[in-house]
Amino acid sequence: MKSLFESVQLGGLQLPNRIVMAPLTRNRAPGAIPTPLMAEYYAQRAAAGLIVSEATAITHQGQGYADVPGLYGTEQLDGWKRVTGAVHARGGRIFCQLWHVGRVSHVDLQPHGQKPVAPSALAAKTKTWLTKPDGSGSFVATSEPRALDAGELPGIVQDFRHAARHAVASAGFDGVEVHAANGYLLDQFLKTGANQRHDDYGGSIPNRARLLLEVMRAVVEEIGGDRVGVRLSPVTPANDIRDDNPQPLFDHVVRELAGLGLAYMHVVEGATGGPREVEGRPFDYQALRRAWREAGAKGAWMVNNGYDRRLAEQSLEQGADLVAFGRPFISNPDLVERLRTNAPLQEIDKATLYGGGAKGYTDYPALK
Ligand SMILES: Cc1cc2nc3c(=O)[nH]c(=O)nc-3n(C[C@H](O)[C@H](O)[C@H](O)COP(=O)(O)O)c2cc1C
Repeated sequence: MKSLFESVQLGGLQLPNRIVMAPLTRNRAPGAIPTPLMAEYYAQRAAAGLIVSEATAITHQGQGYADVPGLYGTEQLDGWKRVTGAVHARGGRIFCQLWHVGRVSHVDLQPHGQKPVAPSALAAKTKTWLTKPDGSGSFVATSEPRALDAGELPGIVQDFRHAARHAVASAGFDGVEVHAANGYLLDQFLKTGANQRHDDYGGSIPNRARLLLEVMRAVVEEIGGDRVGVRLSPVTPANDIRDDNPQPLFDHVVRELAGLGLAYMHVVEGATGGPREVEGRPFDYQALRRAWREAGAKGAWMVNNGYDRRLAEQSLEQGADLVAFGRPFISNPDLVERLRTNAPLQEIDKATLYGGGAKGYTDYPALK
């Protein structure tokens, strides 16, 4: 029987346990530059088998919220190097989540105040986070996007490729996770609710999956599949995303990805941060995992959303290899130890999730 607390191989890394820290945006990187406080926060959580960093913009165009980090400037890479160095010094491992938000952005966050980009010129009914010069922040509606021209898509693939190279070569990450979940750019291309294109990147399932597969091949070619994972969220309504028929779509996606030698497949089950079953959007995750294995994939199967120790152990028994915990890691820096000893978990303070300083970030106490 698999245990959450046993060592496991992930690509070229030996993880001390099967507990992953899920990617968590905290909006504490002014100017998109990771800070020393972020290094302290991640180092506090280094006992995780693997840390996946908060989503990190691959370009200025890929940016969709105030004070989220980037990976496209020297100062940003230097900032991340401090973070990865601090995690490694504590014996941890950390992947960078590569992010292009697509239409989930605002003109104030885009280069030269331009419209955000998307598969189609359809606004998402969702909000983003902006800050004022005095430092206070607020949620505002996302801006109407413009549809990307097919001629621009090779550039986006290149942006992911370069970000992957910089993440490992300059910023010191152990690998990358491509963010294809939660209604951001790659998820927008995948799903009918946001993609109404009539070219090779819209319409049929293979067409809608094309951009993600091109990105994944480029990233794997650049840094090797054993340092690459991908995050999918088949039925999440996050950021106003939906697909008419997600089961065959994701069946196709995982089968196509199976041949790339990825380190892992990360699946958000249900509504991200919400119910594990979404009304009107049934989905068979076991069938998805079987499709991945049937197609020959050797990489780990990572599950997420609403897990506690009992549910995590049940999921390992059913075939998962790794379990990602999000909110529990925010308020429990020593989550691995707490799960191992069945110690009580501290609750998160919702008021300090996005933006701010050390409060609600690095001041959650570990067990004595
Ligand atoms: C504050 C916060 C920030 C998040 N930021 C990200 C992110 O940057 N990238 C991502 O893929 N998911 C993000 N998520 C979703 C989490 O990774 C995770 O899927 C979700 O919290 C469900 O897992 P949990 O029940 O263990 O918390 C975020 C969630 C929260 C609460």
